[in-house]
Order: sequence, then C-alpha cells, then structure tokens
Amino acid sequence: MTEHDIAVIAGDGIGPEVTREALRVLDAAADVYGFRTRRTSYPFGSEHYLETQEIFPDAAFGELRHKDAIFLGAIGDPRVPVGLIEYGIIARMRFELDLYINLRPIKLYDASLCPLKGKEPADVDMVIVRENTEDAYCGAHGFAHKGQPLEVATQTMIYTRAGVERAVRFAFELARERKRKHLTLIDKANAVRAQDIWTRTFAEVALEYPDVETDHAYIDAACMWMVKNPEWFDVAVTPNLFGDIITDLGAMIQGGMGIAASGNLHPGQVSLFEPIHGSAPKHAGKNQASPVAAILAAGMMLDQLGEKAAAAAIEAAVIELLRSRRLKGVGTGMHATSEVGDLVTAELRAARGVPSAR
Ligand code: IPM
Ligand code: MG
Repeated sequence: MTEHDIAVIAGDGIGPEVTREALRVLDAAADVYGFRTRRTSYPFGSEHYLETQEIFPDAAFGELRHKDAIFLGAIGDPRVPVGLIEYGIIARMRFELDLYINLRPIKLYDASLCPLKGKEPADVDMVIVRENTEDAYCGAHGFAHKGQPLEVATQTMIYTRAGVERAVRFAFELARERKRKHLTLIDKANAVRAQDIWTRTFAEVALEYPDVETDHAYIDAACMWMVKNPEWFDVAVTPNLFGDIITDLGAMIQGGMGIAASGNLHPGQVSLFEPIHGSAPKHAGKNQASPVAAILAAGMMLDQLGEKAAAAAIEAAVIELLRSRRLKGVGTGMHATSEVGDLVTAELRAARGVPSAR
C-alpha cells in the first residue's frame, strides 16, 4: 500500500481546528481509497514563537525537503510583529523549497454561495496561476534614515526570465488540459514597465501552444471583469502580488474564505497545501470556522500525490453536500467545524458504499 509522508503545520488561530477536520477527511479518504499517510506535526507559528522565540529551526526545516507534501492550517497573530511569522514560515517555505507556482482554483460549487447576481457554477470556473517566488515578495526591501524625517523605504519588484517563463509555461500546460484552453495574462505592464518581461515571455511561449487561446487584461480591469463577467476566465497567470490580491477577490465569488484552497507547487518536488484564509484569531477555538477550504486543500494535496480518485471524491463530496443543502454554506458559524468533518467523511464513505468508521 502506498504511504505518503506528510508534514503538518496546524499553526495559529483557527488553523488547528480546520487542520484537524482536513486530516480526518484525509484519513477517511485513505481508508476508502486504499493508501496510507504518515504524518509529522510541527508546532511552529505565533504561539510557539511567543513561548520560545523560535520561528522555524533549520533542523526541522531541513526535514521538509524529504516529505512528500506539507499541509499548513493558518498562521498569523496580532501579538507578533507584522510579517515576522509570514516571512519566517510561509514565505520561507515558498522561497527555500522553490514553490514557484501558487495554484488557486476559483470554482463555484453552488449558485447559493455566489454574491454575484445570476451567476451559476458554469460561470465561475477558473484557475489562477500565481507566480510564487519573485516580484515584490522576493525580499529586496530596505529603509534608510529609518524613523528620521528623511526616511526612505524601498521594495523592489524582481522578475527573472527563468522565473516568469516557468510560471507562464505551467499555465499554458494547465490551459491545454482544460476544456476551453483559454489563458489570460494579467499584469500592469502599462504602468509597471518592468512587467514587459511578462508580455514578451508570454508571447514567445504562446508560439509553442497554438491550441491555447490567449488573452490579456491589466490587473485593474481584470478585477472589474472577474466581478462583471467571471465566465470570461478559464486559466489566468499573473505575478505574485497581483495574484495575492485577485485570489481574495476570487475567493469571494466562489463563496468566501471558508472555501478557497491553494497549492504552492514545485512540480516533482515537495509542495505545500493550505487554505487561502488566515488564522482569524477572533474565531479561534470556538468550533465555528468552516474547514471546507482546508478540506479542499487536503484534496489538492492528494491530487498532487497521485491519489487522483480520492482527490476527486473529496471535491465531489463537498459539492454533493452543498447542492443537497446538508451543508448550508461555508460561512463562520453556519455549522460546527467538527460537524463539517463528520459530513464530508460520511459522504466519502457513502459514495463508495463503505460502512462508516471502524
Ligand atoms: C496568501 C497570504 C500571504 C501572501 C501572506 C500571509 C504573506 O496573503 O497566501 O495569499 O501574501 O502571499
Ligand atoms: Mg493573500
């Protein structure tokens, strides 16, 4: 039986409770689809930092490279300096494990979840390919005269030909696999002139994919079109910072932060899966946060691990529960966090006719 070796960082706030439900679903999927997982939990996050001053020790970080996948709940805490844990944990994994794709599917599972008038599941079904290692996130920032009247602050957006090309190529490959075979480049090359490298690289790579229809939108217009005509989008590729912003917008049109999942990928190497939402400290420990995003992130992880049937079944179970109204929604407090785990695991078993838990 295949065994997948998974690192789990449950993290802060609602992270541990949504992770708990995602792992229950993972266990049910393993049981029903015949594979095993071995898991190592790491305590890192804000709470651990406040207690120990430790962010992510190198020895533990080194272990991640040998895992098959990493699952992250959520991190962030207002008691910790801004950015410290984000850069020390999430960004560190993205950069040092070279997780150059942030894959963010935006898929409406049921019309009731969409805040846009008259939009159906067929209208909202896109994937945002966010470049995940460069741009304003690459760490090239600094201050001069800090705290003085003459203070200067800089943050450099860096794009490399190789970095842009591998993201663009990934997006073309993905578009080629989809029904519509349509790929939009989202940038702001008219104002951020360095993004001309995206324009040129996209045009060159496009020549190798004559079967993929290409399109372009500036980020401001793309935000507008995503709300007005989400059905225009199939696959979109975009630099890191715009990808961060537009995927929160995307999360809302698919039902909110309670449902949006993501994969930070380096194809062929260890990859990291997480819900897009943050740690939501004010909801922590109340058993009321939606674990659906975390559950779907676990599904994306299984897909990457090659457990395609189990991955598809997790998504199908969530869709079935939403469409049958057994899952009323993915908002905070609509269901107990643990109840959602119960529903999804039961549905996974029922769909394959496997009697419930041993
Ligand atoms: C995300 C988050 C992160 C980002 C933060 C926590 C650094 O917003 O994954 O979208 O900006 O990438
Ligand atoms: Mg974000």
